Amino acid sequence: MATTSSSIASKPTTSLAFTDHYQKFHSDSQSFRSLSFSSQLPNFSIRISNAGRELDSNRLNAVVRAEKGAESMEVDISLCPRVNSVKPSKTVAITDQATALVQAGVPVIRLAAGEPDFDTPSVIAEAGINAIREGYTRYTPNAGLLELRSAICHKLKEENGLSYTPDQILVSNGAKQSILQAVLAVCSPGDEVLIPAPFWVSYPEMARLADATPVILPTRISENFLLDPKLLESKLTDKSRLLILCSPSNPTGSVYPRNLLEEIAEIVARHPRLLVLSDEIYEHIIYSPATHTSFASLPGMWARTLTVNGFSKAFAMTGWRLGYLAGPKHFVSACNKIQSQFTSGASSISQKAAVAALGLGYAGGEAVSIMVKAFGERRDFLVKSFGELDGVKISEPQGAFYLFLDFSSYYGVNADGFGAIDGSESLCRYLLDKAQVALVPGDAFGDDSCIRISYAASLSTLQAAVERIKKALVSLRPPVPV
Ligand SMILES: Cc1ncc(COP(=O)(O)O)c(C=O)c1O
Repeated sequence: MATTSSSIASKPTTSLAFTDHYQKFHSDSQSFRSLSFSSQLPNFSIRISNAGRELDSNRLNAVVRAEKGAESMEVDISLCPRVNSVKPSKTVAITDQATALVQAGVPVIRLAAGEPDFDTPSVIAEAGINAIREGYTRYTPNAGLLELRSAICHKLKEENGLSYTPDQILVSNGAKQSILQAVLAVCSPGDEVLIPAPFWVSYPEMARLADATPVILPTRISENFLLDPKLLESKLTDKSRLLILCSPSNPTGSVYPRNLLEEIAEIVARHPRLLVLSDEIYEHIIYSPATHTSFASLPGMWARTLTVNGFSKAFAMTGWRLGYLAGPKHFVSACNKIQSQFTSGASSISQKAAVAALGLGYAGGEAVSIMVKAFGERRDFLVKSFGELDGVKISEPQGAFYLFLDFSSYYGVNADGFGAIDGSESLCRYLLDKAQVALVPGDAFGDDSCIRISYAASLSTLQAAVERIKKALVSLRPPVPV
């Protein structure tokens, strides 16, 4: 049964169709001994079987068979344990489910996605259009245009008090790529990556992709989801390699105050192997009186901090795919090497647009402050509305555009015509079903008692969503006070 993948590679269109079908099949694979279905090509069918052996999702075999003629191929479709250990993103899954419902005519209010509802400011968009017109359509240096890296250095100096030279900056296709490359560059198999929970969904999975072990550090809603330095200290071992901090935070909106970061820095300083990845992508989306502190600016931390930032959130540029890493040259060069074999440089057009974004002035100037003001009004509205709802616990979000609310007092109920609500996932399914509002279950972020609401939607949309959620919760049962 050991036909190699090269035999299917000789028929690329067949393998493509096969891959599509396999994705659908894989989740059910434990319960099948064999399965057949037609490929998108008229002449082929695909059969997947365990070839008489015990079925193991890691070691499935597929037979790709020509329906007409004698050609028959077998392919080993096993995936590496690393991929099998990674969970798909729940935020993407829920967003897709809500989109499918909307396309089917169901009036779902989508508050699951992590992207601003604003258009990219026109000055930035124009710069992208001009980049195409002026012929900036070729590969750029792997690390990014010097013009952009110089502008990033200027921004980091002016806004964050950080000194970098352009060779200490690596521009990538989104901050997501910057983070993954940093994790891959510094973590060895078995290293531990410390991640305060609730966390951005990708951090633990990125640690797993690097064969490292995520070590989750729980926080409390009553402490605004901020990391307790004593807990951090108690979890540090010889294997601890990377602490990931995210402020302002996705999903909680919490902002780390400077004095807490200083306490954390003192602990980090006592552990020579420990590096810090500071994800500052929501830096500009922050509500007064909260202020942003870059971890690398704290005494002794520059040499061991990898700062990640990007254009997606503050500049409403999610689709432009542009983020960056700043850090000591040794680490940035290692990430540069990974990127050179992975994607090469980011889009030349997006980079030109990003230069214009940084040209908007301090913290993105007026274009960004208009968006932040709107986010602030929405946050105030939601905090007030949910604050009035019995049985919901709420923190003080000071940044980003998310609320992370504790709805656990509604768990343990059997809803009429729906079934048991036993955690954040079933409550989100209930709210999608009954209230037609799409939210993300907190278990995706490492805290099953909560649900994330993204307020990247207009005030009137949020008002409608709150009404629907309240109605659906009230019909559940009278909540018990928390
Ligand atoms: C905390 C955090 N970091 C990084 C990213 C990645 O952003 P991008 O890849 O769009 O630059 C996101 C996006 O949702 C995020 O929420």
